[in-house]
Amino acid sequence: MTGTSRHHLRLMIPGPCELNPADLAVLARQTVPHYGDSWAPMFRTLLDDLARLLDAEVAYALPGSGTAGLEIALANLFTAGDRVVVPDTGYFGIRLAEIAQALGLRVELLPQPLDAPIEAAEVEDKLAGADGLLVVHVDSTTGIRQPVAELARRARTAGVTVVVDAIASAGGEDIRLRASGIDAVVTAPQKGLGAPPGLAIVAFDGHGVRRMSTHRPRSWYFDLARWAQARAEDEWEPHPVTMPTAIVGALRAAVTRILDTGVESWVARRRDLATELRRRLRAAGLDLNAPEDCSANLVTVIRCPDPGILARRTANRGIMIGQGLPPLTGAVRIGLLGNTAGRQWVDRVVGALAEES
Ligand SMILES: Cc1ncc(COP(=O)(O)O)c(C=O)c1O
Repeated sequence: MTGTSRHHLRLMIPGPCELNPADLAVLARQTVPHYGDSWAPMFRTLLDDLARLLDAEVAYALPGSGTAGLEIALANLFTAGDRVVVPDTGYFGIRLAEIAQALGLRVELLPQPLDAPIEAAEVEDKLAGADGLLVVHVDSTTGIRQPVAELARRARTAGVTVVVDAIASAGGEDIRLRASGIDAVVTAPQKGLGAPPGLAIVAFDGHGVRRMSTHRPRSWYFDLARWAQARAEDEWEPHPVTMPTAIVGALRAAVTRILDTGVESWVARRRDLATELRRRLRAAGLDLNAPEDCSANLVTVIRCPDPGILARRTANRGIMIGQGLPPLTGAVRIGLLGNTAGRQWVDRVVGALAEES
């Protein structure tokens, strides 16, 4: 590396992302109270905007990471002993299964190929008698966009509740809870939404809201009924704990940007950029993991026998990319997120990867 310490590498990892420079000023402001006449309406508007972005009935944002959001969704929708089906889409499919197990759910893990999308009909065959289907929309292990709307359609017909991990897809893929019959979606600010990490975002469609109202988790913090009550009844402080006010402020700025652009146009730009990245990577002779028609917009996975070489090439040009995740360790992962989701960055990363070292 030529005078560039690792700390100064520009981020093209699959999250967290660099922020839009305009939002840095939001983070630099003095701390504000997490209650009061200006805070409470702003926070309620943010939750409504998150619901709008995801076409959800209701959205919650709790301090925590995306994984906390997964646990919150499962704890509020299922009871110990319930049976859930989990396609093993990679590292984060396994995490979803582990969270379900930790909550006492009976998990049926469905093995999946790492280089092809889930076959919805095969999953449907396993749904008889199940209570839930838990699926990762884009497992950043593979860079494959899974057919969650199709899976949700079949699951709803079978009376099975669907929870989607959209942590690596929201803000970059078409996700519509109400239109597709997805009961719950979990995401986090630090990827497609373009904001800092630190919040768990959990959204429900009407069906999910009704199911949730019949389940109380054995948890104080994760009990969404408590958060719903504060929101409905407390004009002054619409949540039961201190919120990370700076992160909420930056998320508000980032979500407003997406909604002002229009969700469809925003996602279309992400799709075009990712298509361009893949075209250029293939032209450079690199081996992409996902088939073109189900390639994710925010994460691109390149298979390679020695990922260290590719990571060093980009680091030498001042860019950090992600290493492969198990079980696909012979790979690198490129994120097109936040401030580095732009053509100039596609040029730079492809130029670096194509370089002979
Ligand atoms: C698909 C997916 N699920 C879950 C997670 C975990 O999110 P967090 O690290 O915010 O808990 C990630 C993070 O990379 C992810 O990409």
